[in-house]
Amino acid sequence: MKISVVSDLHIDTYPPSAAAGILDALCTVVQERSPGLLLIAGDLSSDYRLTLEALGEIERRTGLPCLMVPGNHDVWNRHARQLGTWDIYNRLLDYPHNLARGPYRVNAEWVVIGDLGWYDFSLGDPRFTQEEFLRMEYGGRVWNDREFAPWDRPAPEMHRYFVEKLEAQLEAHRGSRILLVTHAVPHRHFTVPLPNETWSYFNAFLGSEAYADLIARHTDSIRYAVCGHVHYRKRLTFHRTELICSCLGYAKEWRSSDVLEEMRRAVTDLELAGEGHAGTRENIGNGYTKG
Ligand SMILES: [Fe+2]
Repeated sequence: MKISVVSDLHIDTYPPSAAAGILDALCTVVQERSPGLLLIAGDLSSDYRLTLEALGEIERRTGLPCLMVPGNHDVWNRHARQLGTWDIYNRLLDYPHNLARGPYRVNAEWVVIGDLGWYDFSLGDPRFTQEEFLRMEYGGRVWNDREFAPWDRPAPEMHRYFVEKLEAQLEAHRGSRILLVTHAVPHRHFTVPLPNETWSYFNAFLGSEAYADLIARHTDSIRYAVCGHVHYRKRLTFHRTELICSCLGYAKEWRSSDVLEEMRRAVTDLELAGEGHAGTRENIGNGYTKG
């Protein structure tokens, strides 16, 4: 069983015709690859209604289950200011293949477990204090989750909520082969490369080292850990787990002016292999795109 993986489509950053072109390109690539499953690791758009519409359209047009986790943009209330972040998170649970509802059993061997994930500032430069990170502002720039993702608790506590939820599900599936998905990045390898004065601070909002610890503790069952959020396509073998970020990213970050060509580079196919090893198919580009 092959699963095609992508993230960070951000379709609301384009005029409607170009946004339709992104979905067309995704459906074309899916047709070319003929996977048995699709997975989007968050950030389809910054409006949950548009995200839900796009997911419905992708499933209709491909005829495949399109598994997803919400990204931080998907839960933003920028276009629905009366809603809190939990309200939007819960509305996205209406989508049947949202992994935040619970694990998705692929077959007797494989299960897909995932959720949004959040950050606890552990990926930021330790010369900043917790108070400085909690301000979510540095050098005159604000991290937009401060404005558009008002959870009912501080970021490190939201982060803990997701770690505990995922850990319970991982424990319950110890005998299975697991594909773990978080929108937040699970390892420092995926943060914006330093030295970079701005990102030495803002890397704090990309994910958490606690996900790497979680993967290390369950590396015998987690064969793949997929993330999104950061717009660098990278992969890393960590213990026995293959970590993958296969984002599309913003058009200004693409290496090609052609959406279909860029989509072919972004979408990564993973083999959920039976009996022994899990093979991968290398469709991901070398290096990374500029984020
Ligand atoms: Fe994101």
